[in-house]
Amino acid sequence: MHIVHIAVEMAPIAKVGGLGDVVTSLSRAVQDLGHTVNIILPKYDCMNLSNVKDFHYTRSFFWSGTEIKVWFGRVEGLSVYFLEPQDGKFSVGCIYGRNDAERFGFFCHVALEYLLQTGSHPDILHCHDWSSAPVAWLFKEHYKQYGLSSARVVFTIHNLEFGAHFIGKAMTYSDMATTVSHTYSKEVSGNPLISPHLHKFHGILNGIDPDIWDPYNDNFIPVNYTSENVVEGKKAAKITLQQKLGLSQSDQPLVGIITRLTVQKGIHLIKHAIWRTIERHGQVVLLGSAPDPRIQNEFVNLSNQLHSSHGDCVRLCLTYDEPLSHLIYAGSDFILVPSLFEPCGLTQLIAMRYGAIPVVRRTGGLYDTVFDVDNDKDRAQIQGLEPNGFSFEGADSSGVDYALNRAISAW
Ligand code: ADP
Ligand code: GLC
Repeated sequence: MHIVHIAVEMAPIAKVGGLGDVVTSLSRAVQDLGHTVNIILPKYDCMNLSNVKDFHYTRSFFWSGTEIKVWFGRVEGLSVYFLEPQDGKFSVGCIYGRNDAERFGFFCHVALEYLLQTGSHPDILHCHDWSSAPVAWLFKEHYKQYGLSSARVVFTIHNLEFGAHFIGKAMTYSDMATTVSHTYSKEVSGNPLISPHLHKFHGILNGIDPDIWDPYNDNFIPVNYTSENVVEGKKAAKITLQQKLGLSQSDQPLVGIITRLTVQKGIHLIKHAIWRTIERHGQVVLLGSAPDPRIQNEFVNLSNQLHSSHGDCVRLCLTYDEPLSHLIYAGSDFILVPSLFEPCGLTQLIAMRYGAIPVVRRTGGLYDTVFDVDNDKDRAQIQGLEPNGFSFEGADSSGVDYALNRAISAW
């Protein structure tokens, strides 16, 4: 089959969160099955093109009076087409934050126009979240009649929180709609955007790409490791992490947190967990950035306070830093994910790949992937799995304490 993804994020060149990871990893997995996969992306200024192989200009076309330049390159072994309108619509600045609805609506239009003008006949058009949701209804209302007619549209919801208007239209017009875990699909099944379409709505759990996230083949950690030398590899990573961030070199349990700092991610629970870990003589490294300046400021203040009172055992790195994230996954004993809701969550999966034990709230994809050592033996066994972490219910501090205390005691 020929599958075309139309998306606004793709790791590692244009990534804000898990959407970017999944566009890449899903495409690679499907390509490995023998299908032809192409990805169409906006060309942003902020892209690190050194990660793009064989990058070159291919052609231009016009849409609505604007010249669109088309570039081609290979990213993680995938064929990617980059669209660049000559009025600078996508290129100024980075992925989100400026007239996004208008910019991405335009992008969806020109992506379909590009396929039409080049005579492509994809079997599947796959769009993601509100940002490329317009593909579904533009295709069915305007483009299908012009020759892309055999394509079927798949729409994947990575997060129902944003862009209700766009999501509603894509749910109506897509042939198949998916979301990124079974439990999240159940959690949102009563939502009025979803409930009329349950006959074509499926929860399919995300995976991570084991070649991209691989401690045996990772340039950002000091000693590469597999399950055979995991103790040695993690010890070296922990020491490097402590040195890099100026933490004491004591061998205490180290809790890592790698996250966008938004309400979804359980901000009050993250703060509580930091203090609880300090009380239990552990160390905490948080890597996170907040799109909302008020939340960013709260964390800057907390960071200053912690730096003076507990500088040897806590570091808050309030930025986006891909290499540092690898070192934290490798150097942490636990990765905490106390999300209030989580459609899938990738950080708990990456943690497991790097031998860090997940401590999570039981919601969405976190529930589907983390099996509590004390409470989920049977649930794990039914799936042929072993318990693999610690989890808690509820959204108050006692829940986090319940999971974190058991984790630290087990350590
Ligand atoms: P979401 O997509 O809701 O942010 P996921 O758990 O699905 O959450 O995916 C988050 C992805 O973004 C992971 O690959 C994680 O390592 C990465 N990530 C999150 N915050 C940061 C950060 N501050 N620096 C580097 N990587 C980050
Ligand atoms: C979203 C969700 C996250 C999911 C990711 C990839 O950003 O918040 O739970 O893992 O998309 O599907």
